[in-house]
Amino acid sequence: MTFTSAWRSPSNIALIKYWGKHGLQLPRNPSLSFTLSACHTVMRLAVTPDADSPGLQVSYDGVPKQSFEPKIKTFFSLVEERFPWLSKASVIIDSHNTFPHGAGIASSASAMSALSLCLMDIHDQIHGGIVPQNSEWWQTASEVARLGSGSACRSVYPVASIWGQTPNAPESSDFFGIPWEHEIAPVFKDYRDTILIVSTAEKSVSSTAGHRLMEGLSYAEARYAEARQNLIRLSEVMATGTDLNAFIAIVESEALQLHALMMSGKTPFILMEPGTISLIKEIWRFRKETGIPVCFTLDAGPNVHLLYPNQYSPAIMDWVNSNLTPYCAQGKSIPDQVGTGPEKIS
Ligand code: PMV
Repeated sequence: MTFTSAWRSPSNIALIKYWGKHGLQLPRNPSLSFTLSACHTVMRLAVTPDADSPGLQVSYDGVPKQSFEPKIKTFFSLVEERFPWLSKASVIIDSHNTFPHGAGIASSASAMSALSLCLMDIHDQIHGGIVPQNSEWWQTASEVARLGSGSACRSVYPVASIWGQTPNAPESSDFFGIPWEHEIAPVFKDYRDTILIVSTAEKSVSSTAGHRLMEGLSYAEARYAEARQNLIRLSEVMATGTDLNAFIAIVESEALQLHALMMSGKTPFILMEPGTISLIKEIWRFRKETGIPVCFTLDAGPNVHLLYPNQYSPAIMDWVNSNLTPYCAQGKSIPDQVGTGPEKIS
């Protein structure tokens, strides 16, 4: 018998960055992210447990993609205890991203969360029934996703999520993300994220290598301590929504610290491109001149996430089109916003 499942799951953008891990994908510091909407993965799985010829076939947009298989096999070996049927199953995966993968838009977050949700769903089907998708179910999905890619554990929740233990969120855990939608002011619930695509090239350094660079870095402990403080302060600021300047200061500092960490240590690397710096300077100039509370964050790549309250969308779009697209690859940007989380596709 063959079981099928399909899920759409979004990427997320961290405001407080997870950078540095230990053990089995456990974070050195807590992180907080917005869940995105337009940037997502659609994944379809067909699973035959006890198959005559067990194995894995992965395709992307219908085209076989063997290069994705090692990462998925490693992930399966980590979740086999929870999904024992995986060891003798034939698994066929087809996925599609709405955005370029490997370009520092967290494709592993959307793909690994989509895959985890498909596995959870198929597990429920194999065990004969419809299991209520209550908060415990989502927490397990988040924990499974973490084993695929740390940041993926935050993608299973709408609007915003915290992953990693922090004193201001008693339910928080290093093992799974928790929803953070109800703790933030309305202004953040439809925040915009226009992603300015400086380059669509594959990332030159994997995030695994980046996390590894934190080991032995002399400022690592100071960074983790600062991230913990920044998360507490940011969640206070986001609870009221009245001090966007404080929001901006923390978010931009986190983005620049992430890249400063990459530029430190014994084998440093630079993921920003000249266009990234030009965009940051233009954002600072525009904000000073207009007073519009627009800011940026960066992921592990050259692209710039432009974050702003929805009410400023018309002015920002005019400015993006006239002043910012010249810095973008083929003038490309992706209009995105805080989203409603994953969805099962029938
Ligand atoms: O989930 P990973 O291992 O690919 O790490 C991603 C880390 C950043 O995207 C740079 C930051 C974050 O918290 O998402």
